[in-house]
Amino acid sequence: MPVSKATAVASPNIAFIKYWGNRYHSLRLPVNSSLSMNLGGLFTRTTVTFDPALAADAVVLDRAALSPEASRRVTEHLDRVRALANTATRAQVDSHNNFPTGAGIASSASGFAALTVAACAAAGLRLSERELSVLARQGSGSASRSIPAGFVEWQAGTNNDDSFAFSIAAPDHWALVDCIAIVSDEHKAVGSTGGHAIAHTSPLQTARIEDTLRRLGLCREALLARDFPRFAEVVEEDSTMMHAVMMTSRPPLYYWQPPTLAIMEAVRGWRAGGLPVCFTIDAGPNIHVITLAAHAAEIESRLRALPGVQNVLRAAPGGGAELLGS
Ligand code: DP6
Repeated sequence: MPVSKATAVASPNIAFIKYWGNRYHSLRLPVNSSLSMNLGGLFTRTTVTFDPALAADAVVLDRAALSPEASRRVTEHLDRVRALANTATRAQVDSHNNFPTGAGIASSASGFAALTVAACAAAGLRLSERELSVLARQGSGSASRSIPAGFVEWQAGTNNDDSFAFSIAAPDHWALVDCIAIVSDEHKAVGSTGGHAIAHTSPLQTARIEDTLRRLGLCREALLARDFPRFAEVVEEDSTMMHAVMMTSRPPLYYWQPPTLAIMEAVRGWRAGGLPVCFTIDAGPNIHVITLAAHAAEIESRLRALPGVQNVLRAAPGGGAELLGS
């Protein structure tokens, strides 16, 4: 192919019903369906240039070379796109996050969503949103949810083609705000990919999976009805169930640090006092505090006053992955 280039942007997302564990690891077919919100204002912007002059793929993230592990994952993903486009041409990948990496926001979701959209366009492929979600999922499970806009459900499905994410409500459906409290920017010892691989070693994982449809149904209903009290209960329950699995895996994964627990307690107290607020935590010590736009300033200043909180980022519901004119 001649030199061919495209640029795409995608936002990370925060899961309200979590993805934890795969049925089929290499295809990232999850053990359970999940539900999330894209984080508007935060994004990864990625340019992919297929160039016949290149002997190997070259990947740059935020002006620095990627770790060998991250670089290999990108090359494997480009291989999927090359297979679909029937080409062997290598690519230059330039990626930039407008949010701090290592801040506890899953940059692999926005990263693989933007990479998928840019690489497919540069390779001349015209895929549907569903096909893009299927493809992004194979790079990083949560990336499947960063393809569609707003509030998104990823149905676990039964095979490669029916495990994809779709929008259940547009970004303007509900004025939720995610106030992300950063308590540590240290790199975690075991990331999501390693965690998914040992999730089945926890005796609690079976119970978590068996109960997923109940939690997912409750969360979807509360979200569509904009019922914050019901939403808050199920979001916290789902996050804590995933962490119970993590802490009882072999080896055990403890992501919480003392400030994480202090914030959980504070948030529950604020809610008992009448504020619409709840928490959810991914594979790290930072904590996503979800509230309504009208209360975001108040919640942010309360979070900043807590010991151990280094910074607070705010995000409203965001759009889907998009191709930029290049
Ligand atoms: C705890 O999508 O980051 O954030 O597929 O290995 O890239 P890989 O894992 P990833 O896992 C996300 C785990 C989570 C929960 C969630 O986002 O649903």
